[in-house]
Amino acid sequence: MAHTLREVPIMRELREAMEDHPEGEMQTSPEQVQLLGVLLKTMQARRVIEVGVFTGYSAMGMAMALPDDGVVVACDLDPQHMAVAQSWWDRGGVSDRIIPRVGPAAESLAAMIEAGEAGTYDFIYVDADKEGYPSYYEQGLELLRPGGLLTFDNMLRGGRVADPEVNDESTVATRELAAKLLEDDRVEYSLNPIGDGLAIAMLKHA
Ligand SMILES: C[S@@+](CC[C@H](N)C(=O)[O-])C[C@H]1O[C@@H](n2cnc3c(N)ncnc32)[C@H](O)[C@@H]1O
Repeated sequence: MAHTLREVPIMRELREAMEDHPEGEMQTSPEQVQLLGVLLKTMQARRVIEVGVFTGYSAMGMAMALPDDGVVVACDLDPQHMAVAQSWWDRGGVSDRIIPRVGPAAESLAAMIEAGEAGTYDFIYVDADKEGYPSYYEQGLELLRPGGLLTFDNMLRGGRVADPEVNDESTVATRELAAKLLEDDRVEYSLNPIGDGLAIAMLKHA
C-alpha cells in the first residue's frame, strides 16, 4: 500500500474514519478505488452510476476521476448512509458531480431507464446486496453505452465462492452472476483478484 496508493487527504480521512465504524468493512478498498479511477480516466468517462454508496468513499473517488461536467448517480437504500456520504462529498468538493438517489437500487435504475437514460452511461460500479446483482446486471447493461463497463465488487467473497460448504443466499447469488458473466456473449469479461474480487464486463459494440 505504501508503494502504490495515491490517496488525497480527504479520502484518507474518510477511510480512516470508517476503521472504527461497526460496518466499516463495507468500504471499498483504496487500491480498488484507485483502479476504478484509472479505468474512468482511460475511458474519458463522464457518466457513472454507483449502486451501494455506504459513507461515500468509492463514489467520491470516482467523482474525483471525472471531468468538471461529469456525474456519478449514487444509489443507496439507506438515507442515513446517504446523509453521511453527502457530508463527506461536501467536504471533498465533489457534491456538484454526485446525484444521490435514495431507495432500492432496482427501482432507481428502473426509473432511470423509464426516464430515457438507457445507453447513456459510461461506467457502473455495483457494491450492494448480492441478491440484487441479477437485476443490476440486466438493468446496468441497458443503461450502458456500447463499450461501457459494468463492474461488480465482492465476486470472491473472501474465498467463500470456492467453498462448496458455503451456500448462503449471497454466496449463491454471486456464483450465479459469475456463471452468467462467463457465458454471456453480450459482454467482454475479466475477473480481477483485487480487493474482494472485481468483475469487469464491457458491453460489446453491436
Ligand atoms: C458494501 S456497502 C457500499 C460501500 C461503498 N461502495 C464504499 O466504498 O463505501 C453496500 C451498500 O449497499 C446498500 N444497499 C443494500 N441493499 C441495497 C439495495 N437494495 N438498494 C440500494 N442500496 C442497497 C447499503 O445500504 C450499503 O450502504
